[in-house]
Amino acid sequence: MRPSGQRTLVTGGAGFLGSHLCEALIRRGDQVLCVDNFHTGTRDTIAPLLEHPRFELLQHDVTVPLDVEVDRIFNLACPASPVHYQHDPVRTTRTCVLGAMNLLALAERRRARILQASTSEVYGDPEVHPQPEHYWGRVNPTGLRSCYNEGKRCAETLFFDYHRQYGLEIKVVRIFNTYGPRMYVDDGRVVSNFIIQALRGDPVTVYGDGSQTRSFCYVDDLIDGLLAAMDSPAAFTGPVNIGNPDELSMRGLAERVLRLSGSSSRSVHQPLPPDDPKVRRPDIALARKNLGWQPRVPLDEGLAKTIAYFRALLNA
Ligand SMILES: NC(=O)c1ccc[n+]([C@@H]2O[C@H](COP(=O)([O-])OP(=O)(O)OC[C@H]3O[C@@H](n4cnc5c(N)ncnc54)[C@H](O)[C@@H]3O)[C@@H](O)[C@H]2O)c1
Repeated sequence: MRPSGQRTLVTGGAGFLGSHLCEALIRRGDQVLCVDNFHTGTRDTIAPLLEHPRFELLQHDVTVPLDVEVDRIFNLACPASPVHYQHDPVRTTRTCVLGAMNLLALAERRRARILQASTSEVYGDPEVHPQPEHYWGRVNPTGLRSCYNEGKRCAETLFFDYHRQYGLEIKVVRIFNTYGPRMYVDDGRVVSNFIIQALRGDPVTVYGDGSQTRSFCYVDDLIDGLLAAMDSPAAFTGPVNIGNPDELSMRGLAERVLRLSGSSSRSVHQPLPPDDPKVRRPDIALARKNLGWQPRVPLDEGLAKTIAYFRALLNA
């Protein structure tokens, strides 16, 4: 691969999505600077990249200002699973808001293009289904999820104000549930939870009656979406949904995981956590139209790869 000459900063680059993004950028020929404080991410996720001549790692907390030479910034730094972001909610809000301010200030100084990894959580528990980008959401401002949901909403506001006030080139991508290899064993996300429980032969815990729905995007598709958004014409700022519109119930997901993993576990029901959205499905018409992007990996194929990853991890 010929070097592109582009210097790209990925914050949260040692996390689940960040590590896949760093790999994809290296494959494209970029010079990659990965910034992470290892709050949830680890060196293991990026171990294969550490010796690469176009890869650099900087241990740094994005709540502290940063000055580096960059052409492009992907801001992914933030714990993403409820278990992690609720552990220290004040820190989560600081990371969302101060992190965005520091990286926007850097982008402004360097005249760099900057992309924000936002989230479908900005829609809260939606009364519009599926969720298009022009829907403003229904978010509880004082609940257990608010540190993340409102932190991410405030970050979006900052991105658009930097765009309007300073003419910064921004991209805001609302990521819907994504799964794949390198998810964490203990982060309580439904896909990894079900797979680990199934592989260990433990009961698969379904919250509520399991009729609540989600849509899951395989990580490779998500990364293609982030790259397409970053490369889109300057006039396209988003916000744009990136996710897989194939929707299924949590009961249905549990059945698929049990079938694909060949597990003899059974599912058991537990009470729903507070503010758990009942439905979640992206409207991806805007991404299809403006980015020419849509997901390609079917759920069974992505789940099979993810199950293989966790099986190897548990047997290691
Ligand atoms: N995975 C998903 O389904 C999903 C869905 C919606 C949005 N997102 C967003 O995508 C981004 C990445 O998510 P992920 O699933 O890879 O999560 P992750 O927890 O695996 O990765 C986040 C990374 O950010 C780092 N980090 C956290 N706080 C930091 C700080 N203050 N300074 C520097 N680094 C910090 C962590 O150490 C970790 O490596 C997050 O911003 C998340 O909100 C993810």
